[in-house]
Amino acid sequence: MLLQASDIHVSFPEASPFFLRRRRRPVLKGVSLFLREGQCLGIVGESGCGKSTLGRVLIGLLRPERGRVLVCGEDLYDRRGTKARRCGSVVFQDYTSSVNPRFRIEAVMNEPLRTLEGLDKRELRERAAELLERVGLGGGFLERYPHQLSGGQLQRVCIARALAGAPRFLLLDEAVSSLDVSVQVQIMDLLAELKETHGLSYLFITHDLEAVTYLCDSVLFMHDGVFVEETGDVSRIGDVTHPFARQLLSAVAGFDMA
Ligand SMILES: Nc1ncnc2c1ncn2[C@@H]1O[C@H](COP(=O)(O)OP(=O)(O)O)[C@@H](O)[C@H]1O
Ligand SMILES: [Mg+2]
Repeated sequence: MLLQASDIHVSFPEASPFFLRRRRRPVLKGVSLFLREGQCLGIVGESGCGKSTLGRVLIGLLRPERGRVLVCGEDLYDRRGTKARRCGSVVFQDYTSSVNPRFRIEAVMNEPLRTLEGLDKRELRERAAELLERVGLGGGFLERYPHQLSGGQLQRVCIARALAGAPRFLLLDEAVSSLDVSVQVQIMDLLAELKETHGLSYLFITHDLEAVTYLCDSVLFMHDGVFVEETGDVSRIGDVTHPFARQLLSAVAGFDMA
């Protein structure tokens, strides 16, 4: 098992007048999931239901108040869990703010590469070029600045950067949502190809059910901080019964609701 989360609880303080005790609003209310080797697991749900919060918990950015996250056999929130923290890597939606606009792509790529091994300058450059090749960009992109790239190209750079530490799974949080539809398809084809060639697994977080069915083999439906339904086989997604899952499904253009 690559990743196993059990009974995750997270709450955030509510805005309230200073004289009242700050109450906390539960955002994740006992969420459990697992991700197998080579699996693409989709997590769908309407905006604000807690998907990104869960993503942050699963990638080591937010310690849950309750519950446990095991990644590559180690507790992610154990101080010694270094293997766990390297096991997964994340790609966010907002590729423009994920890279420093003043850095050339070479420097963008060097950020994660530098922390890994004692590579010299030439080796760093080779590694960066190699990673860019893998996502369909040539080494020529190393010299460019982010503003000289299209949205799709920049998101490819973010994917290449996420691959720097040779992770076993990628967490993609709305990573294709803000791209044009044709570019979305290209990026998802790239992800499918990386899955084949590198045996990568994915946690694919999105509000877009269509993207999920394109890439994932199973889907979890989230509503208001809990999972309400799971589809183990994406080709049978039309069989979901929970009202919120059906509501999401009916929003997909052309989906025939039996
Ligand atoms: N750091 C935070 N502090 C307070 N509230 C937050 C914080 N992060 C998220 N929230 C709230 O938690 C809820 C779930 O947010 P999020 O996980 O981003 O949802 P989603 O990704 O599904 O749209 C939202 O109501 C959001 O406002
Ligand atoms: Mg989100």
